Amino acid sequence: MRIGLLTGGGDCPGLNAVIRGVVRKAIDTYGDQVIGFRDGWRGVLEDDAEPLTIESTRGILPLGGTILGSSRTNPYAREDGVEQVLATVSAHELDGLIPIGGEDTLGVANRLQAAGVSVIGVPKTIDNDLGGTDVTFGFDTAMQIATDAIDRLHTTAESHHRILVVEVMGRTAGWIALHSGVAGGADVILIPEIPFDIDEVCRLIRRRHDRGRPFSIVVVAEGAAPKEGTLEVTRGTTVDEFGHPRLGGIGYTLEREIEQRTGYETRATVLGHVQRGGTPTAFDRVLATRLGLAAIDAAHEGQWGMMVALRSSAIELVALADAVAQVRRVPAEEYARFGALFG
Ligand code: F6P
Repeated sequence: MRIGLLTGGGDCPGLNAVIRGVVRKAIDTYGDQVIGFRDGWRGVLEDDAEPLTIESTRGILPLGGTILGSSRTNPYAREDGVEQVLATVSAHELDGLIPIGGEDTLGVANRLQAAGVSVIGVPKTIDNDLGGTDVTFGFDTAMQIATDAIDRLHTTAESHHRILVVEVMGRTAGWIALHSGVAGGADVILIPEIPFDIDEVCRLIRRRHDRGRPFSIVVVAEGAAPKEGTLEVTRGTTVDEFGHPRLGGIGYTLEREIEQRTGYETRATVLGHVQRGGTPTAFDRVLATRLGLAAIDAAHEGQWGMMVALRSSAIELVALADAVAQVRRVPAEEYARFGALFG
């Protein structure tokens, strides 16, 4: 077979492990040829490609980022985008594409499948917000990085009797905030799924003070928002090719509001892209490798239009269309359960 491989959307620890898994098995087990497209869908649109071999993918397992590069290019936002994709697939005589990405990259893949391109999706995102799979690789690494940061910030919070606000990523899902906040023993956790009440945040912090704990850690997801009409939050207006706004900055609003309302010194730290950087955890390396191996097997079984996914402890195939139909967000009950630990 001739298989095209690409990585799209935000870079994510584990992408290289998938590439390595696909290439190794494709070449050694099946005698395939693998073509890597640079920078996600941009490489397919512009036919910017390179052959991937066992030699060119050696030593990449522990590397963060992606050796193929990534971008947030959307063929459906470009004139003749679909025609260009079809032309590239035909020029390389590809049997199919294996796109590795989140809801945007795989959303495009799903539409292309309907347009006649054979695809098998591999789910990735630190946000852990894709449907059809229990978890996405990259999430474990991001959660661990955020937890390490919270552990370190505890030192200053406690020594200086401060409130430290930690802003984490996750777009419209609160998985990174909730799990790193719980693992790091945060005193307040704010997620996009549940609009927050700033008065309640301050009440929890004051209660800790009254109980002899004059410091607090507040973890806030970048997409968290206050209850309507309770607090003014200024957001930027930049959007990407998929229409997603660039998030970030809610931590500074909280820094100002908490300090003004409680009188306690408050500082914000925005973790940003640190959460996507560096080497993947062992869990993410293994998951990404299993998904890569399963994706090339699925191609040889002719399972086009499917996505490889972790379900319970097995790698299974799910319909790509179902996986991208809805973003997977934190259920209200799960957040409420952890509420017993706040303040
Ligand atoms: O989807 C991963 C993610 O890191 C989100 O958590 C975040 O909102 C977004 O990507 C940031 O994207 P970029 O690096 O393109 O600004």
